[in-house]
Amino acid sequence: MCGIVGYIGGRDCADVLMDGLEKLEYRGYDSAGIAVFEKNIIRTVKTRGKLKCMADKLAAEGKPEGFCGIGHTRWATHGEPSDINSHPHSNGRVTIVHNGIIENYAELKEFLTEKGYSFVSQTDSEIVACLLDFYYDEREPLRAIMETVKELRGSYALGILFKDFPDRVYATRKGSPLIVGLGESEYFIASDIPAFLKYTKNYALLDDDEIVAIDNGGVRFFDVHGIEVKKRVQTADWDIEQAQKCGYPHYMLKEIHEQPEVVKKTLDSLVRDGVPDFSGIGLTDDFLRGVKRVFVVACGTAMYAGMVGRYAVEKLARVPVAVEIASEFRYMDPIVGEDDLVILVSQSGETADTIASLELAKSRGAKTLAVVNVKYSAIARGADMCIHTLAGPEIAVASTKAYMVQITALYALAFRFAYARGKIPADEMKRLTAQLYNAPKAIRDVIDNKDECQFIASQLVNVETLFFIGRGFDYALSLEGSLKLKEITYIHSEAYAAGELKHGTISLIERGIPVITVATQRDVLAKTVSNMEEVKARGATIIAVCRKGTEFAEGTVDIKLGLNIGDEPSVGCEPSIGCELDDMLIPLPTVCALQLIAYYTSVLRGIDPDKPRNLAKSVTTE
Ligand code: F6R
Repeated sequence: MCGIVGYIGGRDCADVLMDGLEKLEYRGYDSAGIAVFEKNIIRTVKTRGKLKCMADKLAAEGKPEGFCGIGHTRWATHGEPSDINSHPHSNGRVTIVHNGIIENYAELKEFLTEKGYSFVSQTDSEIVACLLDFYYDEREPLRAIMETVKELRGSYALGILFKDFPDRVYATRKGSPLIVGLGESEYFIASDIPAFLKYTKNYALLDDDEIVAIDNGGVRFFDVHGIEVKKRVQTADWDIEQAQKCGYPHYMLKEIHEQPEVVKKTLDSLVRDGVPDFSGIGLTDDFLRGVKRVFVVACGTAMYAGMVGRYAVEKLARVPVAVEIASEFRYMDPIVGEDDLVILVSQSGETADTIASLELAKSRGAKTLAVVNVKYSAIARGADMCIHTLAGPEIAVASTKAYMVQITALYALAFRFAYARGKIPADEMKRLTAQLYNAPKAIRDVIDNKDECQFIASQLVNVETLFFIGRGFDYALSLEGSLKLKEITYIHSEAYAAGELKHGTISLIERGIPVITVATQRDVLAKTVSNMEEVKARGATIIAVCRKGTEFAEGTVDIKLGLNIGDEPSVGCEPSIGCELDDMLIPLPTVCALQLIAYYTSVLRGIDPDKPRNLAKSVTTE
């Protein structure tokens, strides 16, 4: 995945592009570049490395002076990160930036080679510049774009400059996001809204195969046949502060701190008169009563959020729920049909495998529900129904607040599901909802006591491998805690259902290997404790994450992280008593502790947690 931007207006274009790229750096950060019309001639500056390298290069070489241009931040797919493979790419009379994958680039390359074109990079994107040039013989940019996109297979968002048309930007898309920012006499294209949020909140969405032409006179949209179309102007409900670090050293830490607030905001949007109400999106009690099976389909952290949702829905509503990895679901010929509800969970709403799973579920007649944070995304727009989570822009590559609001929404759904199916009375739905409103306070408490997580991080900083174990909800949390830790610390980590370790993996346990045991669920606590003892007996260092009041036999636990979420049994407890949470809801504060442990370990290891190696924020390729 990459990020693209484009600008035309009265400001210094290079500054606006660099500013926009900084907001999109989460999409890719192995190289960057810009191309700007400087006195009617396109000048391109690009380099391998993070945006900082690009800023240094601009400072050394002098930035292109002009008011119209395009920019790119790359996450390499075809061709290693290098100066040559960085975007923008030019060939002949066309300069482009591209986000996506051109699947038939090899055959197009062969065709263009026969036509006399030669290539300097190893990218699939350069082919697009050549093809545009090939179809540009009549010097009609719109026609050249229309002809070119007919030939492209795969996904793309393209920003395009034609050398004969200074101060004009063209753009088109299919499968990859592209948004047109509409300011006062200035216009933007971008992969995501934060890139231009500083200048305008007004935007229009480009649909698949549409083309936009922007010059100083304004913006014109065209459909695939070149017919001009009108677009609805929308207003972003995100603030610029949400897309900035606001004094935090990293986006990830800022986003962790935002969690109490975004959980509350998301809940407020889902709750009416004290209970979850989804009737506004068509998810009525009648509908929920008729569902035979639920599938939750997602990738990575979003999939682990789905596991929490599964435990909650099955426990309360007694409906079978399968959690599926999207990249598997799309190819496994799943038994899914009309009576099933397929829930697609995604922060970005543009994950390629999740999009494909959505299409598959729809083609089999299942009802689809998106739980998505980016409301203009492909998944939000493609599903029959959509719960829009309100985390705001999530910039750090490792997902934190988006996971938190995903599980919040799935809990709310579980409560309503259970009520609709007659498994819990209205009073219990109300009580559970009130409990969920206690979560922000419990999460805040974890954040206020973050020095305990910092201490655990200091104990992990030099380890080479570690394990997470837990049962039920704690197992789902272990998977997420382990993923978070390994992706931003590069420490090898594995998560296991606590009872599973002894079926093979326990042979890896030796003296000093940390085993982080998530032990918040009282119904399985005794069982988890015996698994803890099994690994302790083989030399493991045990770090227990549990309720503050949980006691362990002497010598079992080396470090205890006690969460302040009440020690009383949840049965019959009043929601008004401080942070007290039902066991089922403990994942909300607990995951916050696991996120903080991962964050501080990353920082102590000298890694930038916002931009871990090899990763991009949204995975728009298979
Ligand atoms: C890990 C992480 C990823 C994403 C996954 C799905 O911290 O963020 O595992 O959860 O790539 O992305 P979305 O939610 O955008 O579909």
